[in-house]
Amino acid sequence: MRLPGFIVQRLRTALVCSAALAAVAATLVSAQAVSADASTPPETAAGRQVKRGEPVVWSHRGASKNAPEETTAAYQRALADGADVLEGDLAQTKDGVLVVIHDNTLARTTNAEEVFPDRAPWNVIDFTLAEIKQLDAGSWWDPAFAGQRILTLREWFQLTGGRAGLAPELKSPTLYPGMVENLVKELRAWGYTHDLKARNGAPQIWVQSFDEPALRQFHALLPKVPTLLLRSGYPFMTATDEVLTELATWTTAVAGNPVQTTASQVARVQSFGLKVVSEVEDGPSILSMIELQGYDYLFTNVPDVAKAVLNDKTPLRTTHGVVIDSVVYNPDGSDVEPGGGEYIALRNTTRRPIELTGYTLREFGNTLLRVGDRAVIEPGSFYKVYVGPGTDRPDAHFNGLTTGVLANTVTDHVYLYDSKRVMEDLYSYLAS
Ligand code: G3P
Ligand code: CA
Repeated sequence: MRLPGFIVQRLRTALVCSAALAAVAATLVSAQAVSADASTPPETAAGRQVKRGEPVVWSHRGASKNAPEETTAAYQRALADGADVLEGDLAQTKDGVLVVIHDNTLARTTNAEEVFPDRAPWNVIDFTLAEIKQLDAGSWWDPAFAGQRILTLREWFQLTGGRAGLAPELKSPTLYPGMVENLVKELRAWGYTHDLKARNGAPQIWVQSFDEPALRQFHALLPKVPTLLLRSGYPFMTATDEVLTELATWTTAVAGNPVQTTASQVARVQSFGLKVVSEVEDGPSILSMIELQGYDYLFTNVPDVAKAVLNDKTPLRTTHGVVIDSVVYNPDGSDVEPGGGEYIALRNTTRRPIELTGYTLREFGNTLLRVGDRAVIEPGSFYKVYVGPGTDRPDAHFNGLTTGVLANTVTDHVYLYDSKRVMEDLYSYLAS
């Protein structure tokens, strides 16, 4: 029986559409988190894939030296800078919602003291999500980021959308009833229940904590999800065979500090089947030490710098010609000695005077230091930025702080930004 023309036509179009639909469905499925053994996930927003043999770059609190930590701005910047994994700290609201914030209080990274003046000490657990969502989580870092909000865990996962890995830290689980179960419930909802790979090939989910009982409890509930047991002082890098053997039965990784470890120590820990994650480091020289010592994961606030170092590219190219030459972090006497004390020496690498109005400096702890308005740095000369009080000179500015901010032990990092808040240079030093 010959079917009327229009029926034949309709059938043809239906066939074409269903073929197209099938094709779309196929790509969507493959785009979602792929199982560990999948070969090449599709192109990611950041375009770069995790390279075998190269440390996977974890972005500490997002790109937290170029935007306020743990906000949409910091995580979008981290993704744009090629971060493989986004790290964030978890807290829990009064109404039991998991939110992403480092401290147990809202005081440092939001305007809670202003909005809720009578609610000291502004502990996260004492506020509902609706109240927390009223807060500005950007201006404390820089007025240009006014309006950033504290993210819920779900919003953080959504903004990442499988493009990169996620490393939530159970920060202070003993403060938050049922936090571990809450996290497990969320991960189950997202299907992040085993060693998945994000679209960039990095681990999709990795749960970390300094709280060993909480991490063991988490592992018991979701044994296939990778975990990182954190411990101050990095004792596991020199732990006994017994300790490392036991650790490898339930956790996936431990942390080490590259300024204290050696490649053979890293290899020994890895020989127990454990991965090794670095301390948070930003300085190009220490970043390359992490790669050369064979760490599996590199933790940094500046994923763009880390990726450049790992790809043998110049990490930061000053556009104007002013660099951080050196840091005097522990002068004789007080670090904030009036007219003296600790300072950062900038150097003009050009033959022309450069105006420094609007330039700023930060150190690892995020203290903002001004460089001095209408200050000019002469060609090929130094300009000193003091932390403490004093009277400005043509070649020096005093910030008037009452306590030193430049670390006198282990390492510290100083970041220089131009008047448009673009990071011009970063400088790391070994203090002890
Ligand atoms: O996760 C390791 C690192 O994030 C721990 O330090 O204080 O930034 O959470 P903190
Ligand atoms: Ca953390």
